[in-house]
Amino acid sequence: MKVLLIGNGGRENAIAWKICQSKLLNKLYVAPGNAGTAQIAENINIESEDSESIINFALEKKIDLVVIGPEIPLARGLSDKCKENGIQCFGPSRVASQLESSKQFAKSIMNECGIPNGVSVSVNSVEAAMDSLNSFSLPVVIKADGLAAGKGVFICNSKMDAETAIKDILEKKIFGKSGNSLIIEEFLEGPEISVFAFTDGKSISPLIGACDYKRIGEGDTGPNTGGMGAYSPAPFWNKEFEKNISENVFRKIINYMDSQYSGYVGVLFAGLIITKDGPKVLEFNCRLGDPETQVILPLLETDLLNVMQHCVNGTLESKFVRWSTKSSVTVVMASDGYPGKYTTGHSISGLDNINHSDTIIFHAGTKILNDKSVITNGGRVLSVTAVDISIEKARKNVYKHLSEIKFEGSYNRTDIALI
Ligand code: GLY
Repeated sequence: MKVLLIGNGGRENAIAWKICQSKLLNKLYVAPGNAGTAQIAENINIESEDSESIINFALEKKIDLVVIGPEIPLARGLSDKCKENGIQCFGPSRVASQLESSKQFAKSIMNECGIPNGVSVSVNSVEAAMDSLNSFSLPVVIKADGLAAGKGVFICNSKMDAETAIKDILEKKIFGKSGNSLIIEEFLEGPEISVFAFTDGKSISPLIGACDYKRIGEGDTGPNTGGMGAYSPAPFWNKEFEKNISENVFRKIINYMDSQYSGYVGVLFAGLIITKDGPKVLEFNCRLGDPETQVILPLLETDLLNVMQHCVNGTLESKFVRWSTKSSVTVVMASDGYPGKYTTGHSISGLDNINHSDTIIFHAGTKILNDKSVITNGGRVLSVTAVDISIEKARKNVYKHLSEIKFEGSYNRTDIALI
């Protein structure tokens, strides 16, 4: 098969790495990719949001399958455009992707299907927001309705903070059109987990869960990031938990999407919080997570390309997908200053020292130069993943190897998977 993978993050490096293990693969292109994907596939100089060039390239090269990594191309209907041009695509349609691109859409489906989630209201004016605010106790959560690169959620400890967030979103339009409306939601407390399944629109694969670390600082302090590390499995993960989430969250959503929106094909990602009243859904995403992908794909025992092929053909048998019961840990190395300002262009050393039998390096913000040297090119630069029989062993391997990779101004959390 000829495959075109869309995206340039650590997630896409992990997807590319796994696809490259497939016996079905003849050629993998990545648009635009990074230094990691350049080493195992052919990077194409097309941005992931340039759907016209993606379609033209896919037609010219007779691509058998387009795989969409990030959320923006999904929300803009790249999957639909592929289908209109007779190209198979792994990733849900634009309407189905509203599960991620509109919180109001996701909330209304959850409430209609009886899926546990926080009490919320959706509003599109400051006046309505201020009125509704009075019915929530503090802290309260304010969420921009649309995509905001993980920055659209505010946990407000005072009414004044909530009013500021509301005005920033609805009046100042700090997230542009993504802030045409917002959600006010009760604050929920408990451990969080990202849960993933492959689906062909009818069958749902066994689930896999990973816990990620969103804050930049040790002990979950400081501003939110795209994710600084992750591990799997969660300490509370067991067959009973998986069955509950599969039946009461994933099955209900997939059935609903099938009956109302011509189905959902791809990966469904539920962000859950385990409250004292049981698991509740915080959000849905329509893609793999980053950095969760870097811990879960090394645990996938089935050929990923074959799984994707079954999803797009509508022939997925749930048991075909097998997850290892081993433990996996990934730690992100970032540029000092991230998620604020940082510098790029620093040369990275130590990438060849890694013993690849027990550790994997996934690139994110990196660039490969003509002389094959690799430099930093983003906030999250790379991640180091290890799989072992326990979280402790995997964690030890990750940090041992991570200390051998060096670039100016590198930063990583030292408390990932310390559970
Ligand atoms: N790590 C969370 C996400 O990918 O949205």
